[in-house]
Formats: sequence, structure tokens, C-alpha cells
Amino acid sequence: MTTKILIIGSEGQVGTDLSSRLRDTYGKNNVICSDIRVADEKKLDAGPYIELNVLDKQRLAELFSTHKPSVIYHLAAMLSATAEKNPKLGWELNMDGMFNVFDAALEYNVQRMFWPSSIAVFGPGTPRENTPQDCVMDPNTIYGISKLAGERYCEYYFKRYGLDVRSVRYPGLIGWKALPGGGTTDYAVDIFHQAIKTNRYTCFLKGDTELPMMYMDDAIKATIDITEAPSDEVKIRSSYNLAGMSFDPELLASAIRKHIAGFEISYEIDQRQKIADSWPKSIDDSRARADWGWKNDYDLDAMVAEMLMRLSGMIAG
Ligand code: SER
Repeated sequence: MTTKILIIGSEGQVGTDLSSRLRDTYGKNNVICSDIRVADEKKLDAGPYIELNVLDKQRLAELFSTHKPSVIYHLAAMLSATAEKNPKLGWELNMDGMFNVFDAALEYNVQRMFWPSSIAVFGPGTPRENTPQDCVMDPNTIYGISKLAGERYCEYYFKRYGLDVRSVRYPGLIGWKALPGGGTTDYAVDIFHQAIKTNRYTCFLKGDTELPMMYMDDAIKATIDITEAPSDEVKIRSSYNLAGMSFDPELLASAIRKHIAGFEISYEIDQRQKIADSWPKSIDDSRARADWGWKNDYDLDAMVAEMLMRLSGMIAG
């Protein structure tokens, strides 16, 4: 039987990269994209695209019954900084959206699904260096609280109903195809755009704020690998720690300076600093490495070289 894949939240930062990768592998008609964003010619040309608000259960049911997906990637969520501005809506979108998709997946016999968690599940009580898989988790953002609750639901749905859902805790993600929307780690993408355009960047986090980060190609590889891994290799049914690299804005700026002489960074700290200060600096992802063979390809220098090369072409072209 052909694998029929549904991506919910296909137009976001992860969805944009994931959908093109999956369409290359499985053929464009076997990957149904859906997002709250309006359908336009560009989206429809790329393959099947459906406008969907995950809070609309009826539309979700229609989508499942029409397309009968066997694999789902449910990526629609509100990120940390945006959810702090509207906590009720953040909770509703992240939690009710998840329930709706999980219930539809059960009802329509989906074979397996992916749901992303985040480093935001950790909090001030968590050990910040090399954060272990299991430790104190006391998130203090609505995004982090919804992700931690979501992880517990993943395990619960797997154990109680047999829904084969897999998950990783994404670090801050850095890619050139799409911009992130409303996260605390967004600076690490924006800095490249500004470096190419103006040779300077004003950062909203302090220079020594170290956070776990990952190049998008690695994140897409982890996402597809865990979703396609044999079920018995996925031993953690809440969510796996995942690591690529760790750096702070000062270190990132010096890595950029190796390519763009005279690049300047300055600082205007805002409320996102408080969120970043509650998150780990680095992550121990040994369980993902041992259980389903996770391995990152990009370190800081490789990521910076690739980002500058790709974005220079796009911005100049
Ligand atoms: N990148 C996300 C954020 O900053 C964390 O998962 O909200």
C-alpha cells in the first residue's frame, strides 16, 4: 500500500522543509499539506493543499475520511514568545489542537504519527548543562507547560489506545527556507538575514545566553527517522531529548564574522530573556542515539557556512 502522509502546519518553519523533503521521497500527491494559511497558486502547484484550522473538528474529520492518511506529522502550534502574549489561545491551540488530531488519528486508524515537543519543557529547576532525559521539569511558559502536558498525552495515548505516536524535544531550529514565528530562539535565524542585508544585528537576548540549537536539515532527519523507525526501537513514548549544537549570541556572531568581516552585534534585551534563562544550555541526547540511531551532521561552523551561502543566494537573487 502507498504511504499517504498528512502534514498539519505545513507552512511553518519545520513544515516548509519537511513537506518538500517528504514530497521528494514519496511523490507530491502522496503528501497532503494543510495549514491555517490561505491556499494560493504557489501552494496548490506544489501538491495537494488544504486550508485547515486544527480547532475545527469537522473539517479535520472530512480531511481524514477523504484522504485516509496512514502517517501524520502534526506541527501546528503557537511558540513560546507568542503564547506568552496570549496564554489562553496558546493553550487552546496547542492542547485542543492536539486532542483533535490524536482522536481523529485513532478514529481513522492512522498507522503512526509525529508530534514535536521542545526544550521548553524544562524550567528553572532543571539541570542546565547536559540536561538529562529524565530530570526536574518545571516549565514556566504556557508553551512549555502545553508541551510537557502533550508529552504525557503521547505516552498515555500510546499505552492506553495504542496510538503509535513518536516525539522529539526540538532545540532552537535554524533554517533558510522559512522564518520561525514567535519563538525565543528566533534570533539565531534573524541574525543571518540582517548580517547579509545590513552587516549588523540587534539581539534581544544577552550575549552570553547559551541555548541548544540545531540546523534544520538535522531536525528534518531526526523527525523522519524517528517516525519511520521500527516501533520497538522507539522506547521512550513521551519525547526524546535531541541535540545538535549549543552557542550564545557572541559565539554565533564570531562564527559569522569569519565570513562577513566587520559584522557587528549589539543588544536590546526584551522579555524573551526571561524565557531563555529558564531553558537548558545543552542537552544529553544519548537515548536517541542509542535507541534509533540519531546522529547530527551539523556543528556551528558547518551551519553558519550553509546558512550564509543559501541566504546570500536568496537575498541577492
Ligand atoms: N524554538 C522554540 C521557541 O523558541 C522552542 O522550541 O519557542
